[in-house]
Amino acid sequence: MPNDPIPTPDPADLEGDPLNDQNTSIFERRELLRIGHVPASDRIVGRSEEINAVESLLRPGVHGTPPGNGIIYGKTGSGKSLVARHVTGRAQAIAKSNDVEFRSAYVDCEQSDTITRAARSLAQQVERQSPDNTHIPDTGIGSSEYMNYLYELIDSADVFVVIIDEIDKLDGDDILFKLSRAEESGKTDCYIGVVAISNKIEYYDRLGERVKSSFQDEELVFHPYDADQLRDILDKRRDAFAPGILEDAVIPKVAAVAAQEHGDARKAIDILSSAGEVASRNGDESVTEAHVDVAQEYAAVSRVQEIISGSTPQSRYALFALAYLHTTKTAGGFSTGEIYRVYESVCRSEGMNVLSRQRVLELLKEWAFNDITENKYTGGGMSEGSYREHTLLHDPEIVLDNVFDSNKKKQDVYSSLQN
Ligand SMILES: Nc1ncnc2c1ncn2[C@@H]1O[C@H](COP(=O)(O)OP(=O)(O)OP(=O)(O)O)[C@@H](O)[C@H]1O
Ligand SMILES: [Mg+2]
Repeated sequence: MPNDPIPTPDPADLEGDPLNDQNTSIFERRELLRIGHVPASDRIVGRSEEINAVESLLRPGVHGTPPGNGIIYGKTGSGKSLVARHVTGRAQAIAKSNDVEFRSAYVDCEQSDTITRAARSLAQQVERQSPDNTHIPDTGIGSSEYMNYLYELIDSADVFVVIIDEIDKLDGDDILFKLSRAEESGKTDCYIGVVAISNKIEYYDRLGERVKSSFQDEELVFHPYDADQLRDILDKRRDAFAPGILEDAVIPKVAAVAAQEHGDARKAIDILSSAGEVASRNGDESVTEAHVDVAQEYAAVSRVQEIISGSTPQSRYALFALAYLHTTKTAGGFSTGEIYRVYESVCRSEGMNVLSRQRVLELLKEWAFNDITENKYTGGGMSEGSYREHTLLHDPEIVLDNVFDSNKKKQDVYSSLQN
């Protein structure tokens, strides 16, 4: 089509155009259900212990003394990012009223996945909080130079708290090491507190010894939400819907389903929001349990897709191997050995290196941690002894369709496995 200007119809021809429908009958403040919406502190519920734990880390900083370092672990949607940001924001405000120069920065390593990007983001955020503008270049310098800018900027402050979110996505642990040693090594006089966040249980084990020893961390574990907590979280967003539109059973049902499947607040909100959308699309006048059933099916598929797309290729191949076994054999679960053999073939067909069996077992445990699979010891047969058996908890086709970025690749791997 040529790049012609878009024609605008005569308003007289647009009387009653459905595009003009505001569709407000179901939703009133839809933004409360948007992914990325940050609830006001009075809408954060069910995390008081976790909030207290992060407060304990940062409380010294509020008074101009050294804050603690900590690593927050927990499954996706358990409120880690929300709580860390919320407490840090409050700490900064209170420090100000105490006349403490408090700086903070937040870096999400999903987006800033190299040390250079992360260091640049930290330095530029602090630059924006500083009275005189340094102007830090966007390109052309490396992580050490960005860190030097950062040290220079925080030097005039009393305390600097940095949240490093999704830290397992970062290409190394250097930044943790540098930040935890900055004061000791004379780079700055400012007290630095690091709050690292990860949803990978094995992240701590992977940290190098030198980081572990200098990063004297406190480990905070955020558990998935139970049905009562999810009900409270959803109740606080009830005003996303027009009054009287939500049937009474809807929120308890969404909470129960989400608690049973994963305890993920993001997904629970997502299910509630899609239930509203389904109702709205059908032109129905209220949101009912039947809408939740439909919404929940969509949500389950998209959750699996999202988790797969955020995982590493090796981790995906391990999951693929399990899904493949489910489609080709009738057993309810499979041993690590069986999965490993298929995994090896997938790697060969993809031209990737083959990880050790122990490592693949760790990857499989990670999938279980995210409720995509389940693993348990089984009795085995008379002569076999007990062994660990893995079971996929979702439709294998969803996995098989999402592991590779094209259908052709999937077919290639399939044919190599069948030979
Ligand atoms: N306690 C809570 N009260 C109210 N809303 C919450 C609560 N916990 C989570 N939420 C909602 O769920 C969303 C997801 O939470 P958050 O981003 O903190 O999860 P996370 O643990 O960091 O997950 P991930 O590991 O995927 O990054 C938040 O943006 C917020 O809207
Ligand atoms: Mg997060």
